[in-house]
Amino acid sequence: MNQQTDTAFFGQPRGLSTLFFTVMWERFSYYGMRAILLFYMYYAVTKGGLGIDQATAASIMSIYGSLVYISTIVGGWLADRVWGTRRTVFIGGFLIMLGHICLSLPFGVKALYGSIFFIVIGSGLLNPASSSMVGDLYQENDRRRDAGFSMFVFGINLGAVVAPWAVPWAANGFGFHLFGAEQNFHAGFALAAIGMFFGLVQYIWDGNKYLPETSLTPDDPLTPREKKTVSFWAAMIVIALAIVLGIMALLHGLNIDNIINLITVVAIAMPVVYFVMMLRSNKVTKLERKRVVAYIPLFIAAAIFWGIEESGSVVLALFAEQRTILHIGGWHFAAANFQTLNPLFIMLLTPVFVFLWDNWKKQPSSPGKFAWALIFAGFSYVWMAIPGMLFGTAGRVSPLWLVGSWFLVEIGEMLNSPIGLSVTTKLAPKAFKSQMMSLWYMADSVGQAVNAQIVKYYSSATEVPYFIVIGLVSIIFGIILMFFVKRIHALMSGID
Ligand code: GLN
Ligand code: ALA
Repeated sequence: MNQQTDTAFFGQPRGLSTLFFTVMWERFSYYGMRAILLFYMYYAVTKGGLGIDQATAASIMSIYGSLVYISTIVGGWLADRVWGTRRTVFIGGFLIMLGHICLSLPFGVKALYGSIFFIVIGSGLLNPASSSMVGDLYQENDRRRDAGFSMFVFGINLGAVVAPWAVPWAANGFGFHLFGAEQNFHAGFALAAIGMFFGLVQYIWDGNKYLPETSLTPDDPLTPREKKTVSFWAAMIVIALAIVLGIMALLHGLNIDNIINLITVVAIAMPVVYFVMMLRSNKVTKLERKRVVAYIPLFIAAAIFWGIEESGSVVLALFAEQRTILHIGGWHFAAANFQTLNPLFIMLLTPVFVFLWDNWKKQPSSPGKFAWALIFAGFSYVWMAIPGMLFGTAGRVSPLWLVGSWFLVEIGEMLNSPIGLSVTTKLAPKAFKSQMMSLWYMADSVGQAVNAQIVKYYSSATEVPYFIVIGLVSIIFGIILMFFVKRIHALMSGID
């Protein structure tokens, strides 16, 4: 059927439903796994965990998150130039499922690293290709495109909201205490794998019928000459990496801490290289160059924002586990369940903000919204310093502290995430369209790479200064950004 007249899925093309459920299951598996992974890593072996020390476990969570977004660069490129989006999503989903299967088997730390490897590559393939396929469902002038993307994001959050209940529930023996008083984390990871399996079956079954034929071939296939250049550079990168790791091994420094440090450096260097490349490219016009310059402060703001947002599955997860009363009256819940709050608030706040942007005449420009996002994110942290200051850091406090913190940071997410996606596409130089999208995800990866260095210092003993210092850094950056809003807006040359 012609895509433009196909309105089978709530007024949208039927293919959107395929992609909606694919990402719903994929995010179900990813966020479900993340909700219990931190605890799996640092719980003692006697409690079903791996017994990794807490600081290292927190740092691994962050660097893992960072890698998931760095790998979108490779994934986006493979979709555009080699496999086409349809196949790329499938391969990605399959690798993600393998990753969860690794963790569902009792092979300890080796399975953990294997799983990280599969899921990093798999997410890098699936994430950019699935969202670009959504764009391809619509012709250039189709007015349903924005609404289509909103529904797609709703699918992401629907998966993310359910998973932090379902996966810990499986790990706890489905409410029957199948595993005695202890948890069996592997059962939780198995449920994540099953979720991804459902997503894949649905994707093939439905996708064959409803996804456009064009998604089967790459948009811009590699020429044989380019293939040679690419193979050369790929080999160079592998050799360089082998040399660096070899030197580290020779110096007896090939340990997890140093590998994390190395990834942090790469994650920060990557966007710097991208910006320099775009600013120096002769494919970029003078006007486009100005817009790229305007994007630099927005990128830094986004990195700080995502640093705080993503710490929800690390720092706030530790706070949930160690410092929070885990029941309200007779209703008991697990620390992992708190991860539901982030997507839940997104779902609740999205309609409010859609209304606001439609009706607020004097609304701030994109840089202004970014500044406010930093201020809200900063307050979500400062807020978390209060219980420690009031009651000390030895006991447990009301779960409402965490609810309040997530509420604040999600207001920030509404001011950053959708605005950022749209401004990124608008500020992108023509020749760097999809790379600019990867750059947007790199803001998240930089934030988490920096987190990998600082979350090590978080503990109950340090929580008050930790939340205050990082919260204030974000607020101060937000205020500084306020002063530059007009100038950045001018550089954006006609884009708001
Ligand atoms: N949380 C969203 C997702 O899982 C967006 C993350 C991002 O934009 N960095 O897709
Ligand atoms: N905040 C995460 C994302 O938007 C769940 O989807």
